[in-house]
Amino acid sequence: MKDIPNTHPLKRSKEVTSFQDSLLGWYNEYQRKLPWRSDPSLYKTVISEFMLQQTRVSTVLPYYDNWLTKFPDFQTLARATEEEVLKAWEGLGYYSRARNLHKLAKIAATWKVPPGTVKEWMTLPGVGPYIAAAVTSIAMGKTEAVCDGNLVRVLSRIFAINEEFKDGATAQKKLQPIAQSLIDMDRPGDYNQAMMELGATVCHRQSPLCLTCPVLVFCTSGRTGNAEKFPRIEKKKNKKKSIQRYWLESDGKLLLFTDLHSKNKLSGIYELPQELPAFIEKECITFESIGIRKRTIGNIDYKEEIIRVSNLESIKDELDDGYLWSDSKKMKEITLSGPHRKWIGEIFDRQGEKELNSSGF
Ligand code: ADE
Repeated sequence: MKDIPNTHPLKRSKEVTSFQDSLLGWYNEYQRKLPWRSDPSLYKTVISEFMLQQTRVSTVLPYYDNWLTKFPDFQTLARATEEEVLKAWEGLGYYSRARNLHKLAKIAATWKVPPGTVKEWMTLPGVGPYIAAAVTSIAMGKTEAVCDGNLVRVLSRIFAINEEFKDGATAQKKLQPIAQSLIDMDRPGDYNQAMMELGATVCHRQSPLCLTCPVLVFCTSGRTGNAEKFPRIEKKKNKKKSIQRYWLESDGKLLLFTDLHSKNKLSGIYELPQELPAFIEKECITFESIGIRKRTIGNIDYKEEIIRVSNLESIKDELDDGYLWSDSKKMKEITLSGPHRKWIGEIFDRQGEKELNSSGF
């Protein structure tokens, strides 16, 4: 368990109180006006924290507003279809979050009283230590400290922690007790949000704004001008993977695919196919590379080559499971992965396919 170094001022409880006062005073004045902070509720906290996991505030904002309009409470979300839920999540990525949120809503819709402890929350779908602490502290006033990437940055700089962590998750686990030891007993939810806010708006990864930091006097590395050296996390090279995607157009429709296998994380989310459907007569068709696109999922960097398939002999209406001919109207209705929607739009733009393009992808 990580402990505060004996020589650090925050070892003394008087200094801890002064740290909390400085942090919360700053938060009172400078916090961003975010929609889940005005008129907060358990539902709003759960939705915002699910969305904010691994995603920045600016990306989340339009999704959050749209979500609250579509699904204003647990009951409405519980009644929605998985398709509707995935569609509202389209572009946020890590779709297991949306599926888990949907499952959680089905459970929450039956609650007479919501669970009040981290332990109980951790038994719910998609809820790990971070969401459990965030929800119970922000929505229920429990003294449970969160430790996300922001807190790792802030804490490792305040204490100039020299240990090199294997990865971000390990750092979060090891530093959580320090976050806990600094929590404000009267305003635990605000303390958590203030620490994350400080990490997001002042204690930047690069070029941190130490001179305007409300807790600079407590920060060992900030005071010596080497905050950027922390946290020390082992750099791992991402794996690289090259794959091919097929571009098949017929009658103003584009062929898309989703793996209907429920174990696949992208089940229900359409993309350009990686394999040709069985009806294609392979002898006469021609292939032409029309572009290479890159994206990263988790720790894999994908290079996706998009290959146009032409000279199709005949198109059969019957398709193998998971394939779909999609016109522009259909394309708006279904859930496409964020990068593929963007790439498809770019390729249609380039092709000058006015008919499809004017209806806007
Ligand atoms: N990141 C995740 N949750 C947050 C919150 N409630 N405030 C600021 N940043 C966050």
